[in-house]
Order: sequence, then structure tokens, then C-alpha cells
Amino acid sequence: MRMVELIEKKRDGGELTTEEIRFIVDGYTDGRIPDYQVSAWAMAVFFRDMTDRERADLTMAMVESGETIDLSDIEGVKVDKHSTGGVGDTTTLVLAPLVAAAGVPVAKMSGRGLGHTGGTIDKLEAIPGFHVELTREEFAARVNESSIAVIGQSGNLTPADKKLYALRDVTATVESIPLIASSIMSKKIAAGADAIVLDVKTGAGAFMKDEQDARRLAAAMVAIGNQVGRKTMAVISDMSQPLGLAIGNALEVREAIDTLRGEGPDDLLELCLALGSQMVYLGGAAGSIEEAEALLKDLLASGKALDKFKEFIANQGGDPSVVDDPDRLPAAPYRIELPARESGFVSGMTADAIGTAAMILGAGRATKESEIDLSVGIVLRKKVGDAVQAGESLATIHAATEQVGDVLERLYAAIDIAPSAQSPVLVRGIV
Ligand code: URA
Ligand code: CA
Repeated sequence: MRMVELIEKKRDGGELTTEEIRFIVDGYTDGRIPDYQVSAWAMAVFFRDMTDRERADLTMAMVESGETIDLSDIEGVKVDKHSTGGVGDTTTLVLAPLVAAAGVPVAKMSGRGLGHTGGTIDKLEAIPGFHVELTREEFAARVNESSIAVIGQSGNLTPADKKLYALRDVTATVESIPLIASSIMSKKIAAGADAIVLDVKTGAGAFMKDEQDARRLAAAMVAIGNQVGRKTMAVISDMSQPLGLAIGNALEVREAIDTLRGEGPDDLLELCLALGSQMVYLGGAAGSIEEAEALLKDLLASGKALDKFKEFIANQGGDPSVVDDPDRLPAAPYRIELPARESGFVSGMTADAIGTAAMILGAGRATKESEIDLSVGIVLRKKVGDAVQAGESLATIHAATEQVGDVLERLYAAIDIAPSAQSPVLVRGIV
């Protein structure tokens, strides 16, 4: 097989065979095929697209390019959730105990990573004593006993995707539905998921700004999952403003506790119920999405989801009393309000700009070496569609210093006030 012929075939709109796709992925992973040829192929895919079969083959070739996690020592259907990236997205912290309380195993492998706030593990480490240093055996035992455990990600998963994603980044080939879909799905499958629930964000602040693109991406990932034997569902959700009110690590833990208590922001609860219902249904704990949603509402109302969160925290060395007394979480020394400069209605809150402001406060990592301050962040007091009077606070900034002038200006620039505005619809579609 010659790579130049495979580039030519895709360039001219042909369909590559399973063996041809495998040849490209394996050859690129071990260095036999150079960057320039894979770049040309990726650009051909960008313009010519891939069939459903090619997409599934590309996904599985990337899964098999490295190690895979075997979760067969954990009983039940392992359902994983993936979000295409939001700002202040507290859903994982709520969903993990909520879905576990329904009896669906939550065997979560999480990372730290870069971003506006830390990853799920950083957020959980805001709880005094909480740690993820479990052996693989302890991890499985905890999930089998309690339905929930979190461990740090290890192993060389999907090296082909790492290399290809980095190449796409510098060759203007990231924005290709088949390449994005196979990239995301390969990572979930390699991490051991039997079933997958996707939260595809759309709007300013999302990776897929355009709603039609978000729908196409969601449909592409669902098709791949179902073709390779992993039941997959997706929710398309609005990210034109941050989800919930809190953006910051300890602040989001507090928001998750409020939500499990039934006192959280409505939008966060709505999205957690939409995603959680799909997880519980795919996990086999309910016969329909409607039944799953009713079950989750019962678990919230009865306090069982909150109890599961306490059990989970205690299992991982943390202090479960933070759930009843969130003041035990790390708190920033300064709280600074953001008074509105005019009256009207909040008409826009650019999610990624608000996320960047939280990162500047120290809530997230700009580089792998940055240290996170778990206490800092932003708590919104208004959301899009809310009425506001001049002088009323739009947000509270939780900071390590009083010198937050840059953050204030960024927030003013990110929040628009107009004579009228409506709140956006959060759940835009289900696939
Ligand atoms: N996120 C991924 O993991 N892969 C892509 O290709 C794009 C976004
Ligand atoms: Ca939030």
C-alpha cells in the first residue's frame, strides 16, 4: 500500500477500506508515514468527508493504536459522559453521585488538564483530604461496593489521536466533523466505556459555535458509537453563557452540593436531569428516559443523591462534613462585587471571556506547570434575560488579592445590558 495513492483516492472522493484506514493510522503512529502526507490526507477528508463506515474504522484504529482500559472487573454497564467543553460546567460533580445513587456504576477516570477552571479531580481536591491515589484494585472494589469512584488517568491511550490532533491544529484541519467525532469517541472507548452520553455545547463560548454544526457533530458521534457496539446518546446544550452561577473549583463544589440538595441553579439542574436520564437509561436502571428522569428526581428529593456524595467523599479520604457545612471548603480572602453601570436586561454573557477572567484569578491553568488556587473564581448574580438596576451587582469575584481591575474590565466587556432580552433555551436537542 502506498500512502500517496490513499491521499489521491480520498482527494477524488473515494471511500477508503478498513485496511487502508488501519494502514494510515498505524503508519502515522509509529512514524513510517510522515506528517506532510497525513496533513494532505486530513485536508482531503476535510473537503471530501468520510462515510459512516470509514468514521467507525478510523475511531477503532485510533483506539487500538495504544493501551485500552479494561473495566470488566466492574459489574454493570459502565456509562461515561463527555462534554465538548464548557465554562463553569459543574455537571460532572452533580451527575457522578446522582447517577451512582441510581445504581449505575460511575467508574470515572479524570484528568487535570488546562482550562478556565481545573478538571474534575482538581475540583474534588478542594474538599479537605479528598484524593484519587487508589490502586486499580481499590478503584474496582469501590465502584462494586458504592457504585462510584474516581481515579487519575494513566496509560498511553490513543497515541494516534494525540499525534493527529496536534497535526490538525497546525494544518487547519481541526474543524472536520468526521475527524472531531472519531477523535472524541476513540478516547472514550479506549477508557473503557460500554455506553456513552455526550453533551455537545453550542453558542459563543462553545467549540461548535453554530447550532447546525453541533447537531451534525452529535449525530456523527452517536452513529460511530452505535456502529462499534457502544450505545451512545447526546444532548445539544446552549453555552452562550456559563452554565449555573459558579466558575471556580471550590465554588463549583459548593454549587454541586446546592444542586444535589435541590437548591441549585435551574439551568444546571435541567442539564443534569437531561444527561443523567440518558446515563441511567443506557445503564439499564430504567426502562425509558421518562422513567429515568422520575427516578433521578426521587433521588434528589429523598436526599439519597446527597448521601451518595458524602459516601463517595469519605471513601476517597475526604471530609464528608463539607456537604452539610460548605463553609469548610477553601474560601478566598477577598469578595469584590461588579456593580452594573446601567439598568436594563442582561442580553449576553460571553462564556469563554468569563472563563478567561476566572483563569486570570487563578482558578485554572494557563500552562501545565501553573498552580491552581482552588478558592478563587466568579459567582454570577445575573444571567441572560434577568432585569438589572444600575449599581446592582452582576457578579461576585472571589479573589486572592484586591487588585482585580483587569478582571473587572474583562467582565464588564463580557456582559451586555440592553433594553430587553430573553433567556436562551438550554437544551437545544436530543440525539
Ligand atoms: N476535541 C477533541 O478531543 N478532538 C477534536 O478533534 C476536537 C475537539
Ligand atoms: Ca457552574
